Amino acid sequence: MMALRSVLLGVGGHLPERVLTNAELAERVDTSDEWIVARTGIRERRIAADGEKTSDLAIKAARAALEHAGRDAHDVDLIIVATATPDLTFPATAARVQAALGVVKGAAFDLQAVCSGFIFALATADNFLAREQAKLALVIGAETFSRIVDWEDRGTCVLFGDGAGAVVLEAQTCDTQRGVISTFLRTDGRMHDLLYVDGGPSETQTTGKLRMIGNAVFRQAVEHISGAMLEACARAGVSIDTVDWFVPHQANQRILDGVARRLGIPVEKVISTVAVHGNTSAASVPLALDAGVSDGRIKKGDLVLMEALGGGLTWGAALVRM
Ligand code: COA
Repeated sequence: MMALRSVLLGVGGHLPERVLTNAELAERVDTSDEWIVARTGIRERRIAADGEKTSDLAIKAARAALEHAGRDAHDVDLIIVATATPDLTFPATAARVQAALGVVKGAAFDLQAVCSGFIFALATADNFLAREQAKLALVIGAETFSRIVDWEDRGTCVLFGDGAGAVVLEAQTCDTQRGVISTFLRTDGRMHDLLYVDGGPSETQTTGKLRMIGNAVFRQAVEHISGAMLEACARAGVSIDTVDWFVPHQANQRILDGVARRLGIPVEKVISTVAVHGNTSAASVPLALDAGVSDGRIKKGDLVLMEALGGGLTWGAALVRM
Protein backbone atom coordinates (compact mmCIF):
# COMPACT_ATOMS: atom_id res chain seq x y z
CA MET A 1 0.00 0.00 0.00
CA MET A 2 1.25 3.49 -0.87
CA ALA A 3 0.97 6.37 1.62
CA LEU A 4 2.67 9.62 2.63
CA ARG A 5 5.65 8.69 4.81
CA SER A 6 8.49 10.51 6.60
CA VAL A 7 11.47 8.78 5.01
CA LEU A 8 14.81 9.01 6.79
CA LEU A 9 17.22 10.08 4.06
CA GLY A 10 20.36 10.84 6.04
CA VAL A 11 21.98 10.92 9.45
CA GLY A 12 24.99 12.83 10.79
CA GLY A 13 26.74 13.55 14.03
CA HIS A 14 29.33 15.83 15.56
CA LEU A 15 31.37 15.49 18.74
CA PRO A 16 33.64 18.13 20.28
CA GLU A 17 37.36 17.32 20.09
CA ARG A 18 38.16 17.34 23.79
CA VAL A 19 38.01 13.89 25.42
CA LEU A 20 37.46 13.74 29.19
CA THR A 21 38.48 10.38 30.65
CA ASN A 22 37.37 8.70 33.87
CA ALA A 23 40.94 9.01 35.16
CA GLU A 24 40.77 12.81 34.78
CA LEU A 25 37.43 12.88 36.65
CA ALA A 26 38.97 10.83 39.47
CA GLU A 27 41.42 13.70 39.98
CA ARG A 28 38.52 16.14 40.51
CA VAL A 29 36.00 14.14 42.60
CA ASP A 30 36.03 11.06 44.84
CA THR A 31 35.49 8.40 42.14
CA SER A 32 37.46 5.88 40.11
CA ASP A 33 37.60 4.48 36.60
CA GLU A 34 36.61 1.07 38.04
CA TRP A 35 33.45 2.45 39.74
CA ILE A 36 32.33 4.43 36.68
CA VAL A 37 32.90 1.54 34.26
CA ALA A 38 31.24 -1.03 36.54
CA ARG A 39 28.18 1.12 37.39
CA THR A 40 27.66 2.85 34.01
CA GLY A 41 29.87 1.39 31.24
CA ILE A 42 31.19 4.91 30.52
CA ARG A 43 34.95 5.25 29.86
CA GLU A 44 35.14 8.73 28.38
CA ARG A 45 32.97 11.57 27.11
CA ARG A 46 33.46 14.68 24.91
CA ILE A 47 33.39 18.21 26.30
CA ALA A 48 32.75 21.36 24.24
CA ALA A 49 35.64 23.84 24.07
CA ASP A 50 35.35 27.24 25.73
CA GLY A 51 33.01 29.28 23.55
CA GLU A 52 31.76 26.22 21.63
CA LYS A 53 27.98 26.41 21.76
CA THR A 54 25.13 23.93 21.34
CA SER A 55 24.30 25.60 18.01
CA ASP A 56 27.89 25.08 16.77
CA LEU A 57 27.57 21.33 17.38
CA ALA A 58 24.03 21.26 15.91
CA ILE A 59 25.09 23.05 12.72
CA LYS A 60 27.93 20.57 12.08
CA ALA A 61 25.67 17.55 12.72
CA ALA A 62 22.99 19.05 10.43
CA ARG A 63 25.50 19.62 7.61
CA ALA A 64 26.72 16.01 7.94
CA ALA A 65 23.14 14.68 7.82
CA LEU A 66 22.29 16.81 4.76
CA GLU A 67 25.42 15.60 2.98
CA HIS A 68 24.57 11.98 3.80
CA ALA A 69 21.03 12.57 2.51
CA GLY A 70 22.29 14.25 -0.66
CA ARG A 71 19.97 17.19 -0.03
CA ASP A 72 20.57 20.93 -0.20
CA ALA A 73 19.93 23.04 2.92
CA HIS A 74 17.85 25.42 0.77
CA ASP A 75 15.17 22.74 0.42
CA VAL A 76 14.73 22.35 4.19
CA ASP A 77 11.42 23.81 5.40
CA LEU A 78 11.34 22.56 9.00
CA ILE A 79 14.08 22.50 11.65
CA ILE A 80 13.49 21.12 15.13
CA VAL A 81 16.34 21.25 17.63
CA ALA A 82 15.79 19.05 20.68
CA THR A 83 17.88 20.55 23.46
CA ALA A 84 17.83 21.24 27.19
CA THR A 85 20.98 23.35 26.87
CA PRO A 86 20.09 26.11 24.38
CA ASP A 87 22.67 28.79 23.53
CA LEU A 88 20.44 31.43 25.16
CA THR A 89 17.07 31.48 26.92
CA PHE A 90 15.74 32.80 23.61
CA PRO A 91 15.58 32.89 20.63
CA ALA A 92 15.54 29.20 19.87
CA THR A 93 18.85 27.53 19.06
CA ALA A 94 17.03 26.29 15.96
CA ALA A 95 16.82 29.89 14.69
CA ARG A 96 20.61 30.16 14.83
CA VAL A 97 20.98 26.81 13.10
CA GLN A 98 18.53 27.89 10.39
CA ALA A 99 20.42 31.12 9.73
CA ALA A 100 23.82 29.39 9.66
CA LEU A 101 22.58 26.83 7.14
CA GLY A 102 21.18 29.59 4.92
CA VAL A 103 17.61 28.27 5.18
CA VAL A 104 15.13 31.04 4.43
CA LYS A 105 11.79 29.26 4.46
CA GLY A 106 9.64 27.26 6.84
CA ALA A 107 9.74 27.13 10.63
CA ALA A 108 12.55 26.43 13.09
CA PHE A 109 11.99 25.86 16.79
CA ASP A 110 13.43 24.13 19.83
CA LEU A 111 11.79 21.27 21.65
CA GLN A 112 12.38 20.48 25.32
CA ALA A 113 11.99 16.91 26.51
CA VAL A 114 15.54 16.53 27.91
CA CYS A 115 16.99 13.09 27.10
CA SER A 116 13.79 12.04 25.27
CA GLY A 117 14.00 15.18 23.14
CA PHE A 118 15.10 13.54 19.91
CA ILE A 119 12.27 10.97 20.01
CA PHE A 120 9.75 13.76 20.75
CA ALA A 121 11.21 15.89 17.92
CA LEU A 122 11.14 12.99 15.46
CA ALA A 123 7.48 12.32 16.29
CA THR A 124 6.69 16.05 15.95
CA ALA A 125 8.41 16.33 12.56
CA ASP A 126 6.66 13.14 11.39
CA ASN A 127 3.31 14.76 12.19
CA PHE A 128 4.20 17.96 10.31
CA LEU A 129 5.24 15.93 7.25
CA ALA A 130 2.17 13.69 7.43
CA ARG A 131 -0.09 16.78 7.45
CA GLU A 132 1.86 18.16 4.44
CA GLN A 133 2.85 21.22 6.49
CA ALA A 134 6.50 20.62 5.55
CA LYS A 135 8.38 18.57 2.97
CA LEU A 136 11.98 18.29 4.15
CA ALA A 137 12.77 18.33 7.86
CA LEU A 138 15.97 18.45 9.87
CA VAL A 139 15.57 16.87 13.29
CA ILE A 140 18.53 17.60 15.53
CA GLY A 141 19.46 16.60 19.07
CA ALA A 142 22.21 18.88 20.41
CA GLU A 143 23.53 19.42 23.91
CA THR A 144 26.30 20.96 25.99
CA PHE A 145 25.45 19.31 29.31
CA SER A 146 28.98 20.11 30.52
CA ARG A 147 27.63 23.66 31.08
CA ILE A 148 24.91 22.57 33.53
CA VAL A 149 26.64 19.67 35.28
CA ASP A 150 27.74 20.27 38.88
CA TRP A 151 31.40 19.26 38.58
CA GLU A 152 31.56 18.76 42.36
CA ASP A 153 28.77 16.13 42.34
CA ARG A 154 30.28 12.71 41.66
CA GLY A 155 26.81 11.17 41.33
CA THR A 156 26.12 13.11 38.12
CA CYS A 157 29.28 14.67 36.68
CA VAL A 158 30.66 11.30 35.56
CA LEU A 159 27.59 10.55 33.44
CA PHE A 160 27.19 13.32 30.89
CA GLY A 161 28.90 14.52 27.71
CA ASP A 162 28.43 16.99 24.84
CA GLY A 163 27.54 16.34 21.21
CA ALA A 164 24.96 16.60 18.44
CA GLY A 165 23.23 14.26 16.02
CA ALA A 166 20.78 14.95 13.21
CA VAL A 167 18.55 13.24 10.69
CA VAL A 168 16.92 14.43 7.46
CA LEU A 169 13.31 13.37 6.95
CA GLU A 170 11.48 13.81 3.65
CA ALA A 171 7.75 13.42 3.02
CA GLN A 172 7.47 10.81 0.27
CA THR A 173 4.56 8.84 -1.11
CA CYS A 174 5.90 5.33 -0.88
CA ASP A 175 5.38 1.84 0.50
CA THR A 176 3.81 2.07 3.96
CA GLN A 177 6.60 -0.05 5.41
CA ARG A 178 9.20 2.71 4.81
CA GLY A 179 10.16 5.68 6.96
CA VAL A 180 8.73 6.47 10.39
CA ILE A 181 6.25 3.65 11.02
CA SER A 182 5.10 4.42 14.55
CA THR A 183 5.96 6.59 17.55
CA PHE A 184 4.95 6.53 21.19
CA LEU A 185 5.47 9.45 23.61
CA ARG A 186 4.76 9.77 27.32
CA THR A 187 5.27 12.35 30.06
CA ASP A 188 4.56 11.89 33.76
CA GLY A 189 5.12 15.27 35.41
CA ARG A 190 4.61 13.81 38.88
CA MET A 191 8.24 12.68 38.68
CA HIS A 192 9.64 16.09 37.67
CA ASP A 193 11.89 16.31 40.74
CA LEU A 194 13.78 13.05 40.08
CA LEU A 195 15.86 14.80 37.40
CA TYR A 196 15.87 18.57 36.95
CA VAL A 197 17.99 21.72 36.74
CA ASP A 198 17.74 23.94 39.83
CA GLY A 199 17.64 27.22 37.92
CA GLY A 200 15.74 28.99 35.17
CA PRO A 201 14.62 32.43 34.03
CA SER A 202 11.27 32.44 35.80
CA GLU A 203 12.08 30.72 39.09
CA THR A 204 15.65 31.76 39.93
CA GLN A 205 16.90 34.03 37.13
CA THR A 206 19.96 31.75 36.92
CA THR A 207 20.94 28.88 34.64
CA GLY A 208 21.19 26.34 37.47
CA LYS A 209 22.84 22.94 37.79
CA LEU A 210 21.62 19.43 37.04
CA ARG A 211 20.20 17.49 40.02
CA MET A 212 19.24 13.82 39.90
CA ILE A 213 18.13 11.05 42.21
CA GLY A 214 20.03 8.51 40.10
CA ASN A 215 18.81 5.27 41.61
CA ALA A 216 15.16 6.41 41.46
CA VAL A 217 15.53 7.33 37.76
CA PHE A 218 17.24 4.00 37.17
CA ARG A 219 14.27 2.13 38.67
CA GLN A 220 11.84 3.94 36.33
CA ALA A 221 14.02 3.54 33.25
CA VAL A 222 13.96 -0.18 32.49
CA GLU A 223 10.20 -0.51 33.00
CA HIS A 224 9.11 2.57 31.02
CA ILE A 225 11.61 2.12 28.19
CA SER A 226 10.57 -1.53 27.73
CA GLY A 227 6.91 -0.52 27.76
CA ALA A 228 7.47 2.23 25.17
CA MET A 229 9.31 -0.15 22.84
CA LEU A 230 6.54 -2.73 23.02
CA GLU A 231 3.89 -0.02 22.48
CA ALA A 232 5.65 1.38 19.37
CA CYS A 233 5.80 -2.16 17.94
CA ALA A 234 2.15 -2.86 18.85
CA ARG A 235 1.02 0.36 17.13
CA ALA A 236 2.82 -0.78 13.98
CA GLY A 237 1.52 -4.33 14.28
CA VAL A 238 5.04 -5.78 14.24
CA SER A 239 6.69 -8.23 16.60
CA ILE A 240 9.76 -6.95 18.46
CA ASP A 241 11.60 -10.06 17.18
CA THR A 242 11.48 -8.64 13.65
CA VAL A 243 13.38 -5.47 14.64
CA ASP A 244 16.89 -5.50 13.13
CA TRP A 245 18.52 -2.85 15.33
CA PHE A 246 17.82 -1.23 18.66
CA VAL A 247 19.14 2.31 19.06
CA PRO A 248 18.65 3.27 22.70
CA HIS A 249 19.28 6.48 24.60
CA GLN A 250 22.79 6.04 25.98
CA ALA A 251 22.37 6.75 29.71
CA ASN A 252 23.92 3.70 31.31
CA GLN A 253 25.06 0.33 29.92
CA ARG A 254 23.22 -1.37 32.80
CA ILE A 255 19.93 0.16 31.59
CA LEU A 256 20.64 -1.01 28.01
CA ASP A 257 21.41 -4.52 29.28
CA GLY A 258 18.39 -4.56 31.63
CA VAL A 259 15.97 -3.61 28.82
CA ALA A 260 17.53 -6.16 26.44
CA ARG A 261 17.23 -8.91 29.10
CA ARG A 262 13.64 -8.01 29.91
CA LEU A 263 12.55 -8.07 26.24
CA GLY A 264 14.74 -11.01 25.19
CA ILE A 265 16.75 -8.90 22.75
CA PRO A 266 20.18 -10.27 21.69
CA VAL A 267 22.86 -7.77 22.80
CA GLU A 268 24.44 -7.91 19.31
CA LYS A 269 21.36 -6.06 18.02
CA VAL A 270 21.79 -3.13 20.45
CA ILE A 271 23.87 -0.16 19.30
CA SER A 272 25.91 1.08 22.27
CA THR A 273 28.07 4.19 22.27
CA VAL A 274 27.78 4.93 25.98
CA ALA A 275 31.40 3.90 26.65
CA VAL A 276 32.78 6.69 24.48
CA HIS A 277 29.99 9.32 24.46
CA GLY A 278 28.52 9.09 27.96
CA ASN A 279 24.99 10.47 28.19
CA THR A 280 24.65 13.28 25.63
CA SER A 281 20.94 13.72 26.42
CA ALA A 282 18.92 14.62 23.29
CA ALA A 283 21.98 13.99 21.09
CA SER A 284 22.49 10.43 22.23
CA VAL A 285 19.99 8.57 20.01
CA PRO A 286 20.95 10.28 16.71
CA LEU A 287 24.66 9.95 17.59
CA ALA A 288 24.18 6.21 18.20
CA LEU A 289 22.16 5.92 14.97
CA ASP A 290 24.96 7.71 13.13
CA ALA A 291 27.53 5.32 14.61
CA GLY A 292 25.51 2.27 13.51
CA VAL A 293 24.96 3.64 9.98
CA SER A 294 28.55 4.88 9.54
CA ASP A 295 30.14 1.55 10.47
CA GLY A 296 27.81 -0.31 8.08
CA ARG A 297 25.78 -2.25 10.65
CA ILE A 298 22.49 -0.44 9.97
CA LYS A 299 21.56 -0.69 6.29
CA LYS A 300 18.83 0.61 4.04
CA GLY A 301 15.67 -1.45 4.58
CA ASP A 302 16.52 -2.38 8.17
CA LEU A 303 13.87 -1.99 10.86
CA VAL A 304 15.21 0.22 13.67
CA LEU A 305 13.63 0.83 17.08
CA MET A 306 14.84 3.93 18.95
CA GLU A 307 13.94 4.77 22.56
CA ALA A 308 14.71 7.23 25.33
CA LEU A 309 13.79 8.32 28.84
CA GLY A 310 14.63 11.63 30.47
CA GLY A 311 13.68 14.49 32.76
CA GLY A 312 9.99 15.21 33.13
CA LEU A 313 9.89 12.29 33.36
CA THR A 314 9.49 11.81 29.63
CA TRP A 315 9.93 8.65 27.61
CA GLY A 316 9.16 7.31 24.17
CA ALA A 317 10.07 5.12 21.24
CA ALA A 318 10.10 5.38 17.45
CA LEU A 319 10.05 2.57 14.90
CA VAL A 320 11.66 3.45 11.57
CA ARG A 321 12.35 1.47 8.38
CA MET A 322 15.63 2.86 7.03
N1 COA B 1 31.98 7.25 42.17
C1 COA B 1 31.98 6.50 43.29
N2 COA B 1 30.89 6.34 44.04
C2 COA B 1 29.76 6.95 43.65
C3 COA B 1 29.69 7.74 42.49
C4 COA B 1 30.87 7.89 41.75
N3 COA B 1 30.93 8.61 40.62
N4 COA B 1 28.43 8.20 42.35
C5 COA B 1 27.72 7.72 43.36
N5 COA B 1 28.52 6.97 44.15
C6 COA B 1 28.18 6.26 45.39
C7 COA B 1 27.00 6.90 46.11
O1 COA B 1 27.43 7.99 46.88
C8 COA B 1 26.52 5.75 46.97
O2 COA B 1 27.35 5.67 48.10
P1 COA B 1 26.71 5.37 49.55
O3 COA B 1 26.08 4.00 49.41
O4 COA B 1 27.90 5.40 50.43
O5 COA B 1 25.71 6.45 49.78
C9 COA B 1 26.79 4.53 46.10
O6 COA B 1 27.72 4.95 45.09
C10 COA B 1 25.55 3.98 45.43
O7 COA B 1 24.82 5.03 44.87
P2 COA B 1 23.59 4.81 43.93
O8 COA B 1 23.09 6.12 43.43
O9 COA B 1 22.58 3.92 44.60
O10 COA B 1 24.31 3.98 42.76
P3 COA B 1 23.71 3.32 41.48
O11 COA B 1 24.14 1.93 41.38
O12 COA B 1 22.25 3.61 41.34
O13 COA B 1 24.47 4.09 40.30
C11 COA B 1 23.97 5.85 38.76
C12 COA B 1 24.36 5.48 40.19
C13 COA B 1 23.76 7.35 38.68
C14 COA B 1 25.08 5.43 37.85
C15 COA B 1 22.69 5.10 38.39
O14 COA B 1 21.74 5.28 39.41
C16 COA B 1 22.09 5.56 37.10
O15 COA B 1 22.65 5.38 36.04
N6 COA B 1 20.87 6.11 37.17
C17 COA B 1 20.12 6.49 36.01
C18 COA B 1 20.74 7.68 35.45
C19 COA B 1 20.06 8.09 34.22
O16 COA B 1 19.72 7.29 33.41
N7 COA B 1 19.92 9.38 34.11
C20 COA B 1 19.53 10.04 32.98
C21 COA B 1 18.26 9.63 32.45
S1 COA B 1 18.18 10.50 31.02
